[in-house]
Amino acid sequence: MDLIEKIESGNAVQAVVGLGYVGLPLAVEFATAGIQTAGIDISENKIAQINKGKSYVRDVPDENLKKVVDNGKLKVSSDFSILKDADTVNIAVPTPLRKTKDPDISYIVAAMDEIRKYFHPQMVLILESTTYPGTTEEVILPMLSADGMKVGEDFYLAFSPERVDPGNKDYNTSNIPKVVGGVTGKCTELAASIYRRAGMNPVPVSSSRVAETVKLLENTFRSVNIGLVNEIALMCSRMGINVWEVIDAAKTKPFGFMPFYPGPGLGGHCIPIDPFYLSWKAKQSGFNSEFIELAGRVNGDMPSHVVTLVTDALNRARKCVNGSKILIMGVSYKKDIDDTRESPAFDIIQLLSMKGAQVCYHDDNIEDLDEGLNVERFDYSAEKLREVDCAIIVTGHGGVDYELLVRNCPLIFDSRNTLKNFESENIIRL
Ligand SMILES: NC(=O)c1ccc[n+]([C@@H]2O[C@H](COP(=O)([O-])OP(=O)(O)OC[C@H]3O[C@@H](n4cnc5c(N)ncnc54)[C@H](O)[C@@H]3O)[C@@H](O)[C@H]2O)c1
Repeated sequence: MDLIEKIESGNAVQAVVGLGYVGLPLAVEFATAGIQTAGIDISENKIAQINKGKSYVRDVPDENLKKVVDNGKLKVSSDFSILKDADTVNIAVPTPLRKTKDPDISYIVAAMDEIRKYFHPQMVLILESTTYPGTTEEVILPMLSADGMKVGEDFYLAFSPERVDPGNKDYNTSNIPKVVGGVTGKCTELAASIYRRAGMNPVPVSSSRVAETVKLLENTFRSVNIGLVNEIALMCSRMGINVWEVIDAAKTKPFGFMPFYPGPGLGGHCIPIDPFYLSWKAKQSGFNSEFIELAGRVNGDMPSHVVTLVTDALNRARKCVNGSKILIMGVSYKKDIDDTRESPAFDIIQLLSMKGAQVCYHDDNIEDLDEGLNVERFDYSAEKLREVDCAIIVTGHGGVDYELLVRNCPLIFDSRNTLKNFESENIIRL
């Protein structure tokens, strides 16, 4: 049986390296489609949880995970030797930025160093981690070709960006089209067949570089448009115009306008980071990206604008930030998820603490804020809300009684228009 038949008939063994927010749903998707799947992660804790059928990713219900662990379709380990029998490998390890805003692809390189030990002829490798154009061909390809193996003949290599949106009720790993770009045409064909076999909808493109750039365009598009609307929000705030009403009316135009919303700053693993992968790479070709840098600056300044607007509001109430008790509502990077990576709440907390505020937080989804910050969990009640000088809605969270908040808290800064249905003098909107 040739490789493509093996994949299409569901007889290929597929592996996923890196079982986080991206890798775990993907591995479960493969296994649920009846494909023998091997999962690898360096975190012993994650491996132990998976083996107990306990999902640490909200979008993967325990029962779905348990089913594939119990029926043996998903086998996980921290030992890369389980790759010996794998026909395909998808890599979904982190790709953060260094402090200097340069790409940090050290996790990809570390994973590849291990994968290489078990790499064998006729294997397909697909990188899913978001990265700069050229990573697949310039970093991974040389590592695999070192022993004289030829891409497109002896092994197959492709890039397929992950587009998952945690917490999205309508779209998930199974129904988001999968862009796939191989180093050769055969690589693209094989990689696409892997996703097709798992019930996904592959969208082939001409090269891995195109596929890498697709993801960065998507996230740059978001970052730039959010940057624009953040600037418009600050403009409107200065002119006494309600930006939320402006956007709501603008979006009635049936073509040529797409609503983006202002907020307290960007968060998450993608939008604040990925555009800089693109601008970093473009710089190597002597191209300076104006939009990416500008949007990064405007969005990056939002937490400080929030603090300024809160300071002004406290001032009008004859209070100062120093010594005020300030409640941060929602510390995850968007509402109703349990991921705090890059959350703008951290910058806001830090800026307020530096000014002497006594900061506390409320978030149904975050038990502990282990970020070296001096903030306590807030015990949400009418009585406690009356003790607060200002509450800042950073990410509006379900499960919170906003009526109680509006009735009892003397001042509320709403950075997300969460309280749009409330008319009350103690509410200030971004
Ligand atoms: N989280 C998202 O919403 C999202 C969406 C689209 C794309 N992405 C991209 O997908 C990639 C993965 O992101 P994530 O959110 O799943 O990250 P994550 O931190 O949740 O998961 C990464 C996993 O890789 C493991 N890991 C690290 N080094 C490893 C190694 N050498 N070998 C094996 N496992 C290793 C970690 O233990 C972790 O479990 C990133 O490039 C990210 O930008 C993420």
